[in-house]
Amino acid sequence: MPAIVLVGAQWGDEGKGKATDLLGSRIDYVVKFNGGNNAGHTVVVGGEKYALHLLPSGILTPGVTPVIANGVVVDLGVLFEELDALEARGVDTSKLVVSSNAHLIPRYNKVIDQVSERFLGQRKIGTTGRGIGPTYADKMNRIGIRVQDIFDESILRQKVEAALELKNQLLVKTYNRRAIEVDEVVEDLLQYAERLRPMVADTSLLLSKALDADEVVLCEAGQATLLDVDHGTYPYVTSSNAISAGACTGAGIPPTSIDRVIAILKAFTTRVGEGPFPTELHDEVGDTLREIGHEFGTTTGRPRRVGWLDVVIGRYAARVNGVTDFVVTKLDNLDTFDEIPVCVAYEVDGKRFDEMPENQTDFHHAKPVYEMLPGWKQDITGCRTFEDLPENAQKYILFVEEQIGARISAIGVGPGRDEIIQRHELV
Ligand code: GDP
Ligand code: IMO
Ligand code: MG
Repeated sequence: MPAIVLVGAQWGDEGKGKATDLLGSRIDYVVKFNGGNNAGHTVVVGGEKYALHLLPSGILTPGVTPVIANGVVVDLGVLFEELDALEARGVDTSKLVVSSNAHLIPRYNKVIDQVSERFLGQRKIGTTGRGIGPTYADKMNRIGIRVQDIFDESILRQKVEAALELKNQLLVKTYNRRAIEVDEVVEDLLQYAERLRPMVADTSLLLSKALDADEVVLCEAGQATLLDVDHGTYPYVTSSNAISAGACTGAGIPPTSIDRVIAILKAFTTRVGEGPFPTELHDEVGDTLREIGHEFGTTTGRPRRVGWLDVVIGRYAARVNGVTDFVVTKLDNLDTFDEIPVCVAYEVDGKRFDEMPENQTDFHHAKPVYEMLPGWKQDITGCRTFEDLPENAQKYILFVEEQIGARISAIGVGPGRDEIIQRHELV
């Protein structure tokens, strides 16, 4: 059985957690392959709300093996806090497997993430402050600390010493902060070693065997296409590859093993943090949409920036991810609008762009070209088939499908597990 990759099509918070949960009963492994606890997935199961950051959403489905793969950056304190909180609510987390090659977020990287944002002032990225960027930078700089390092104290100490030689220069001389002691970092990491040990494995090998045995492997991206470090709105991005290709490097599975890419597209757009956002609404319509959609960050609680759907972005996501199926979420949040604008192109200094401009400055100056679609003005949360949807809601979906050039296989009409319309099988 080939692998499936699930990605976000916009700037995150599209409802990836709910979509993973939806596929839950038909999958054997759910793999987080990028990011860390910068992610925030809210999943509603049986009226109960679960907020997950580091753990893959599939952990809520009994029988599924959740995997934290090599491409993830792990804050061990957060990992065990999340596991304990789930166990306290009766969720069995005993099957979790963590890659020995995943990188750890040492406490100095959280400090550096936060102080460097303050230092940037106006030019800040608006990060989640969880130490994600500095930890990926260390990985590329070859001074990172990996999961396997905490099982050998002397190696761990050497690596922390080497990293701190650089980090303390930065902290003290550039940022005017106190130096961090080697001992405090080593002790902080070592306290988790015994609890972590039984969970650790070669997850690339594990997944390769699972695929050979015809088991279903779902790779769930954190963040989203436009937050991808290579293909997003750089520098206003996260520091990992959140597009489908990231599943190969981040989980150690080959491109030839993937035959399905599911992208989650919210029926409108949100963004957390800084950076360009052509359809952003700064008026009371935006405030209304934010309230209706409860668009406040799961991770940092920040109000999310909101705007209308942008199908230029949808087309781009379809292309760079090789999307086979889209899931449109939160269609119900548009129930009350008389007219629904959809951005189909941009205008930059009098020139029309039907595709994402390659130049960052053009994207910053992009003015949306809207097509106005009529609203349906009724509650769709009870709809369970495409035909149940009011005519204008059906038209909205068909219009978006045509614009993005890939089929829309499911439509979310509410936050609950069963509040979904399925048009094509996803597994
Ligand atoms: P993720 O980061 O992509 O997993 O998304 P988040 O969990 O941060 O944000 C998505 C939010 O939308 C969550 O609160 C979900 O419960 C909610 N949600 C997902 N799908 C739907 C839907 O179809 N309708 C409504 N009303 N809410 C949804
Ligand atoms: P999920 O998985 C939305 C944003 C941050 C910031 C930028 C860089 O819930 O969709 P980082 O801390 O990663 O270095 O911050 O990326 N960001 C997200 N925005 N949803 C997320 O995850 C995000 N993860 C990071 O707000 O702009
Ligand atoms: Mg989220």
